[in-house]
This record gives sequence, structure tokens and C-alpha cells, in this order.
Amino acid sequence: MTPDSEPAASNNTMDHEHRVQIDLIVTLEQGLALGKSHHLLLTILEQLVEFTNIHFMSEQLLMRLHAYPELGAHEAAHDQLIEQSHRVMADFSSGELSTVSTELLLLKQWLIDHIRSDDYAFRLYVNQQTD
Ligand SMILES: [Fe+2]
Ligand SMILES: [Fe+2]
Repeated sequence: MTPDSEPAASNNTMDHEHRVQIDLIVTLEQGLALGKSHHLLLTILEQLVEFTNIHFMSEQLLMRLHAYPELGAHEAAHDQLIEQSHRVMADFSSGELSTVSTELLLLKQWLIDHIRSDDYAFRLYVNQQTD
């Protein structure tokens, strides 16, 4: 996989999880655009937040196992993404749906950039260690 390729270019677990994250955001965007029920949108949003939390925890655990020197910076990036997802959740709960669409777009782009830069850097680090 290269930084310019799609996040899910290969079959390993992390690529699969990245694909699930992006798919959940896209499903949410489409659901909002189609005016799906509040209950359905909330369910997808909760899945996105929960899945993202689990993915970040497993990624950070893997980084600890590999003594990754950029762990602190990577954790800070994860914290920012989690904060953004909580903002989406708060605005959704208060009915600010137009703001939610904008924030989701930002979250998606942020996540794609993170996968292509920060997560990719960790992959290179692991590959160098195991060569
Ligand atoms: Fe990450
Ligand atoms: Fe990731």
C-alpha cells in the first residue's frame, strides 16, 4: 500500500478496520442526505464511535508491542479524532443536522489523511523491524 492508495488496499486486519470506519461514515452521510430516521442514524453514529474507539485501542496496543517511538503523537491524533466524533454526536443529539453533515465530511477527510500518513508511517516502521 502507498500513501496515495485507498485505505483498504490489502487484506490485513487494520486495512479492514479502516474500511469499516470509512464505510460507517459514508453510510451516515447517505442516511442524513436521504432523511433516514433519527433512531437509525443514531445507531450508525454510535457504532462509528464505538468501533473507532476499539480500533484506536488495538492500534495503540500494537504500537506499544512494537515500542513505536511516535506512539505519543499518534495517540494525540487519535484523541483529536475521538473528540471530533463526540462533537458530531453532541450536535446530532441537539438536532444540528446541517452542522453534522459538515462535521462528518471533516471527520472523514481527517480519518483518510490519518490512515494515509500516520497509520502508514507505523506500517513502514513495523515492516522495517521485521525485514
Ligand atoms: Fe491511527
Ligand atoms: Fe487506524
